[in-house]
Amino acid sequence: MAFACGKVLLLGEHAVVYGEPALAAGLSVGVTANATPGPARLSAPAWSVDVTAADGSRVGAAFAALLEALPVPAATVILDAAVPAGAGLGSSAAMAIATARALAELAGSPLDDDVLFEAGMASERVFHGTPSGLDHAVAMHGGLTRFVRAKNGGRPDRTAVALPSALHLVVAQAAPGADTGAMVAGVAERRVADPVVARSIPAIGDLTRAAMAAAERGDIAALADAMNHNHVLLQRIGVSTAALDDAVQRARDAGALAAKLTGAGGGGCIVALLDGPSDAVVDALTPTCQFVLDAHVGTP
Ligand code: MEV
Repeated sequence: MAFACGKVLLLGEHAVVYGEPALAAGLSVGVTANATPGPARLSAPAWSVDVTAADGSRVGAAFAALLEALPVPAATVILDAAVPAGAGLGSSAAMAIATARALAELAGSPLDDDVLFEAGMASERVFHGTPSGLDHAVAMHGGLTRFVRAKNGGRPDRTAVALPSALHLVVAQAAPGADTGAMVAGVAERRVADPVVARSIPAIGDLTRAAMAAAERGDIAALADAMNHNHVLLQRIGVSTAALDDAVQRARDAGALAAKLTGAGGGGCIVALLDGPSDAVVDALTPTCQFVLDAHVGTP
C-alpha cells in the first residue's frame, strides 16, 4: 500500500505559474494505491475510473506517461481515493504519486525523489498542460510548504514552513471543478490583455510572502488578512465564481477568520481558516457543498 496526500493552497495559486511563491498544505486524506502483478491497468472506484495505458482516455494517457517515466515495470493498480476528483485538491497529483510509489513497492525498488517528481510531472502535464509541479510536490511530502516553480529546467524550490502551532482549516467543495489547464490559459490571456490582471500576479506574490512570515511567527490574524485579500485578487484575475464567492461569504459569516477559493478556481473548493471550533462553519457549508473536510495542518 502506498499513500500520497491531497493538497490545499492557502495562497498563491495562478501566481505560482509566473514564478511567485505559493503556500500549500498537505491534507490528511489523499489517495492510497495497491499494485499487484498483472496487466497495466489503473482503477479508482470512487472516481468511476478504470483505464489501461493504451485506451485513449485522459487518465489512461496520464498513466502511460507515468509508466514511461518510471524505472519500474507496469502492473495493475487499484486506488482508494478519499479526495474528490478535479476539485482543486490535487487529486490527479496524489493519484500519480501514490501509483508510482505502489509500483516501486511491488518492484522492491524505492524511487529517488527526483525520479518520482519527474514522473509526477509527466502525468500532471497530461491533465494540466504546464503545471507548476506544486500539486505533486505537496503530494510527495505533505506538511505546510513554500513552493516556487523550477526556472529554466532547474529544480523547483520547495521548503517546509515551520509553524508554532497547527492551523485549523475547513475545506469545502462549492461546485464541480473546472479544467485547471483551461483556467491557467484563461489567466495567461487576460494577463496580456488587462493591466489589472497583470498587476495582480506580483501582488499575490507579495501577499504570499507576507502570509508565510505571518504563519512562521504564529500571527494567525495577519495570515487570515492575507488570505482574504488573496481572494479579492483571485476575483480580479477572473477565476472566482458566484458559487465560490457565496461559500467564502458563508464561511466568514459563520466565524471563519479567513476564506478564499483554493486551486485553479472556476468551480471546485474554498478553504477557511479558523481560530476556534469548526461546527458553525461546517454547518454553514454542508447544505450546499459536496465535500466538507475539517483539517488540522501542522509541520511535516
Ligand atoms: C492548481 O492547484 C494551482 C494552479 O496554480 C496551477 C499550477 O500551479 O499548476 C492554478
